[in-house]
Amino acid sequence: MPGKQRHLFDIPRDICYLNSAYMGPRLHSVTKAGRAAVETGRAPWSLTSADFFETADHIRRVFAGLIGSGEESIAIVPSVSYAMAVAAANIELKPGDEIVLLEEQFPSNVYPWQRLAAECGATIRTVSRPKDCDWTTAVLSNISARTALAALPQVHWTDGSRIDLEVVGRRCRDVGSALVLDLTQSLGAAPFSITEVKPDFMVAAAYKWLLGPYGVTYLYVSPARQDGVPIEQTWMGRYGSEDFSSLVSYQDAYRDGARRFDAGQHCSFILLPMALEGLRQIASWTPDETASTLREITDLIASRAGALGFDATPSSARSPHMLGLSYPDSVPSGLLDALAAERVYASVRGRRIRVAPHLHVDDEDIERFFAVLADFAP
Ligand SMILES: Cc1ncc(COP(=O)(O)O)c(C=O)c1O
Repeated sequence: MPGKQRHLFDIPRDICYLNSAYMGPRLHSVTKAGRAAVETGRAPWSLTSADFFETADHIRRVFAGLIGSGEESIAIVPSVSYAMAVAAANIELKPGDEIVLLEEQFPSNVYPWQRLAAECGATIRTVSRPKDCDWTTAVLSNISARTALAALPQVHWTDGSRIDLEVVGRRCRDVGSALVLDLTQSLGAAPFSITEVKPDFMVAAAYKWLLGPYGVTYLYVSPARQDGVPIEQTWMGRYGSEDFSSLVSYQDAYRDGARRFDAGQHCSFILLPMALEGLRQIASWTPDETASTLREITDLIASRAGALGFDATPSSARSPHMLGLSYPDSVPSGLLDALAAERVYASVRGRRIRVAPHLHVDDEDIERFFAVLADFAP
């Protein structure tokens, strides 16, 4: 059961870190795995051909367990942008089709669709931010028979306002639309099930809520899409590539499942052991339990901010793990500097302070945050 688990994190006592949506906090176990991997790399002669595949397959298993999919459906790529390029290369649109996106969605899940729309004569339909933060209703009212693709997150990256993806997934299937998800800002800290949502592609970077390193991203590809085209032709994606003595017996066939979509050198010997440790910790806490502890922390922050006059993302409309504290017009210019002077870290996104705690956050952190915030009340 996760509680407030500061001792597991590599965070000095004088740092108040409320910025997990920017870069996840570092677990001691992840640092240890990275150091050990650097040491192991000093002896390249001990590296076997199995080392190129085994950690990656272990990661597929743990990640698949988190989302309830088969491990064959997971590919490992460097970034969300890369994963979205894979999805875009495998979704066919025709003139007049619509692509549904959110207003101010993260750009890695916007630019590929702008380009695809321009190439195919499709149009982008942007869902405006609803005043009551109810994105689910707003998204549903923008999905119609013209929708060929909904490319969405589970939470808005600026304030944690949430979309019910089970409901949206059902609507997409009813109208025959593809569904592509970027769960970078929620997976690990909010419950999610592949079998309930049934997306075509789902992607999550490791380095935020999955507590992994920068440079590793997990890509789920639904079974129906697994015979698609990879965006590069890595030798590692081909059938039989485990046998290094036969690599020039060129193969037309790919390795099983989503492995054809793995990026070249996805098996980074330093990054993958770190990514695996992050995933293991998330899996052992379980996203459900993590979410319920983070909900307590964010509810407390919301109620204290409300008492200071901030407009906090309403609890019913947001994910458990992060929230926005809004000013009516703009965030005061000195706020981030004042926070940093006290070694308190959060982000500003638009007219909001984005507060994103993880399980390291305790009462002392919350007191220190509000000691600064009280001087910047709206
Ligand atoms: C929602 C979301 N998606 C993706 C990313 C990162 O994208 P990429 O891996 O393309 O750099 C971020 C980074 O902040 C993000 O907030």
